[in-house]
Amino acid sequence: MDHTLTIGDTRFFVRTEGKGSPLLLVHGFPLDHHMWDAVIPQLAAKHLVIAPDLRGFGKSEGHVEIAPMELLADDLASLLNALEVTAPITFCGLSMGGYIGWQMWRRHSDRLARLIQLDTRAAADSEVQARARGVNAEHVLANGMSEVPQAMLPKLLSEKTIENQPQVADSLRDIILRQDPRAAAAAQRGMAQRPDVTNWLPEISLPTLVLCGSDDGISPPAEMQAFAKRIPGAQFLEIPNAGHMVPMEDPNATVEAILEFSSRAN
Ligand code: MLT
Repeated sequence: MDHTLTIGDTRFFVRTEGKGSPLLLVHGFPLDHHMWDAVIPQLAAKHLVIAPDLRGFGKSEGHVEIAPMELLADDLASLLNALEVTAPITFCGLSMGGYIGWQMWRRHSDRLARLIQLDTRAAADSEVQARARGVNAEHVLANGMSEVPQAMLPKLLSEKTIENQPQVADSLRDIILRQDPRAAAAAQRGMAQRPDVTNWLPEISLPTLVLCGSDDGISPPAEMQAFAKRIPGAQFLEIPNAGHMVPMEDPNATVEAILEFSSRAN
């Protein structure tokens, strides 16, 4: 079911499907909820799946100059209120969605039952990375999104996916091209100023799954395994042959890992 929800003066798009314990799917950059299309049907057989478009992305409005991860987490808490979801949720975020996940835990931990972090980082940007995001933000504002897929696809997908699943590359390209440059610029600036959360990790007492594509070059398995070890009891899982976009590159393995984790007793 598609919803348009108004929070303050901003309209947000959210897709919900299924019944059961709530599972919030938070997309990465510069994407929208369609990145979850291949996994939603199977997840919705067991869960109430909630897949929003973050502020400014997809069909959501609310453009800002900088979109800090804290603001995006607060938006999600407001959306859960607007949907009248009161049961604690399983938060599942990919990459930028994962950066928001850390803030969700910090600011709205009463909303969370479990945490699933896909292809994401706990570290902040280096100075070089943060500066590059500023340049990229200016570039998309001046030139639009047309050059973004070419620059990003080889980083987002494994070589095997690009070779064997050209339809995945096509879908990803289409999603990126549909995004509003203002949302992309705001998110780049927000990610550039996100904090290093490594010191938060030992305090996370939620059941946590950390999932990573074996060929992810943006948030490599070794880095993800190292931060998973700092979260008490967290499970780390690597999906072979996938890059940064595991739910699109290997939806079946992603669904299996999420459902196995979410069905386990705490
Ligand atoms: C994402 O997939 O959300 C991005 O790769 C995150 C980032 O740019 O750090």
